[in-house]
Amino acid sequence: MIPITRPWVGEAEAEAVRRPLLGGWLTQGPEVEAFEREFAAAVGAPHACAVASCTVALHLALKAVGVGEGDDVVTASHSFVATANCVRYLGARPIFADIQSGTYNLDPELVERSITPATRAILCVHQMGMPCDLVALRDIAWRHGLALVEDAACAVGSELLWDGGWQRVGRPHGDVACFSFHPRKLVTAGEGGMLTTADPELDRRFRLWRQHGMTVPDTVRHCAPIVVVEAYDELGYNYRLTDLQAAVGREQLRRLDAIVARRRLLADRYRELLAEVPGLGLPVEPPWARSNWQSFCVRLPSGTDQRTVMQSMLDAGVSTRRGIMCAHREPAYRREPWLAPLPLPESERAQDGCLLLPMYHELALEEQEEVARALSRACALAGAA
Ligand SMILES: Cc1ncc(COP(=O)(O)O)c(C=O)c1O
Repeated sequence: MIPITRPWVGEAEAEAVRRPLLGGWLTQGPEVEAFEREFAAAVGAPHACAVASCTVALHLALKAVGVGEGDDVVTASHSFVATANCVRYLGARPIFADIQSGTYNLDPELVERSITPATRAILCVHQMGMPCDLVALRDIAWRHGLALVEDAACAVGSELLWDGGWQRVGRPHGDVACFSFHPRKLVTAGEGGMLTTADPELDRRFRLWRQHGMTVPDTVRHCAPIVVVEAYDELGYNYRLTDLQAAVGREQLRRLDAIVARRRLLADRYRELLAEVPGLGLPVEPPWARSNWQSFCVRLPSGTDQRTVMQSMLDAGVSTRRGIMCAHREPAYRREPWLAPLPLPESERAQDGCLLLPMYHELALEEQEEVARALSRACALAGAA
């Protein structure tokens, strides 16, 4: 079976975990601090704060830019459900705007037309690692006095053209960018998240909230030559990343360039191998974006049944996933407060008519050929049925 993904972890990560495990500091200690420093350097951000997942990073990011009860946040329905859920955690309402068919990312023009009087922020997504049109979204955010938060869960190592040069996602280009270290991402720690920002005050708040609102972190108290007693100034959370996870993340981060280079090669190979499949839509990189190819998403020939293709590929030993979900179609969003001022045809068409193919560092060319053969056969069969 060719899986949809397989994390690239090995002896280096196993060895790295020994450091905190035997060193005695297991959570939010020196490994986390080092991971934050190294991550900030890798994406070019002034501040990076590690947390337990991207979901909680998004929660803190939206809270920090002032989203609260009764506010609206314009975002994509076409995303993992965590994106919209984080808006709701704060008692705010997701306002869904449609995506562009080529990049599967928010259409800036539709974002602008979806802004309500209660809108406080735009929460954009770099879906499947493809940078969204941040230049346009940043201009819209400025014009309307809105905060801009980037869901960069899948986008570590992706780049965009900014001020005439290539920059990595996460400097950040909005107010805050949020990353995930889930095993389906390029850099994994099992679970984990990171918030990057240029604003020291936002970074201070993230650090406070991730640890129960504790005014003096335990790392400081443990090293203090005098007795220091902490206070709990604000309601906070336990959103800590462990040192075991950070040690793994640091090893992964060291290989980021190699991981991205390999994914780009694999994406090029897929494009060559699949060029002849009749009616199949291949992903497009706009001139201002360089994807990390976290996922490789193809659009099935029109009229082809997605489930039939997926089953036929599974029967041939190839695992696939449907197109990215749409939150507004899920039972959890059936009756809840959310709004789509305009229809979402591209989001729904992408969910129903796209397929994600196996994509991981150690995917071999012969396996890619097998995937291409299985997909070509499955499309022909599904088309004929
Ligand atoms: C676009 C997007 N946002 C948020 C998340 C949530 O990330 P995490 O699992 O680290 O909470 C994911 C996870 O897959 C995602 O793909």
